[in-house]
Amino acid sequence: MRQVAFVCPRCQRGLAETEDGMRCSVDTLVFRKTNGIPDFVLPERRPLIDRFLEAYRVIRECESWICSDRDAYERLPEADRTDPNRSVWRLRTRSFRLLLEDLQRRYTAKPLRILDAGAGNAWLSLQLSRLGHEPVAVDISTDIGDGLGAPIALYGDAIPFPLIRAEFDFLPFPAKSFDIVVFNASLHYAAHPEATVSDVHKLLRDGGSLYVIDSPEFASRDDGNAMISQLSADFVSKYSVRLPPYGRGFLLSSMSETVNDRYTVTRQNTSFGFRFRLGQTITRFRHGRPSASIPFLVLTKPQPEQRRTSM
Ligand SMILES: C[S@@+](CC[C@H](N)C(=O)[O-])C[C@H]1O[C@@H](n2cnc3c(N)ncnc32)[C@H](O)[C@@H]1O
Repeated sequence: MRQVAFVCPRCQRGLAETEDGMRCSVDTLVFRKTNGIPDFVLPERRPLIDRFLEAYRVIRECESWICSDRDAYERLPEADRTDPNRSVWRLRTRSFRLLLEDLQRRYTAKPLRILDAGAGNAWLSLQLSRLGHEPVAVDISTDIGDGLGAPIALYGDAIPFPLIRAEFDFLPFPAKSFDIVVFNASLHYAAHPEATVSDVHKLLRDGGSLYVIDSPEFASRDDGNAMISQLSADFVSKYSVRLPPYGRGFLLSSMSETVNDRYTVTRQNTSFGFRFRLGQTITRFRHGRPSASIPFLVLTKPQPEQRRTSM
């Protein structure tokens, strides 16, 4: 497994390896391992994250996202016929295929150093490592059913990629650590997805790409907020859980323009077939607002010579 270098997620300076954990002498912080996973969540962010994860866990359990069967885990994103989330996994399967096709088209060299940002149970990292790449799975959740604890529960120490607890906006990696960053169904959890995407730029090598996959996107902030209100009301009525505010919950289609000084953006408007379109039509009638688009976005960091010529 590739060794990953770390920096302090707050000041971006190097860390010293000590008996206690990794120490930042500037911020006097020590980052320790919890259940075998290095934990880079900043102390001041913990109360907010804990409150969010407590509610998120209940919802994910009620929605049957917990995967504790090794064979089923290894087949993801293909799900069994009996899986209650089969329709969502069908979307993931489709977009995973798009990701592999796009990677193959743009990058011939292997292995690619890939950051799986908001990895959940890290199924994507597992599949990418099987294909010969070098993923690093990052999430705030170390849950054993649905977060980074899942591969540990299933494989013990024999996991072929690093698992790191950290937030998107406070990542503990030096500049240019990755060829590829993937936000798979996760970027919409950021408080300001545009700022997160702008900031992640520094982690990519020149010519590297950031993929934004399976996140709901709206043209209008009001429509996105209406979707979030409906979703929150559903969680209260179905599961008696109020999800505390954490991320925005959706992307804005204007994001491509906001970040085009840093990236070359390509966009594929994915259509997931008849059932998906029917769902969109139903949403429009039932809720009186457009339903979300689920674009497949590739944001490529230009090579320095491309940047100079486009200035
Ligand atoms: C819908 S799940 C997607 C998981 C996985 N990528 C997949 O495709 O199945 C979103 C994940 O993003 C994680 N997440 C949300 N906000 C985050 C943040 N600010 N930093 C890191 N991870 C975050 C959640 O804990 C959750 O595991």
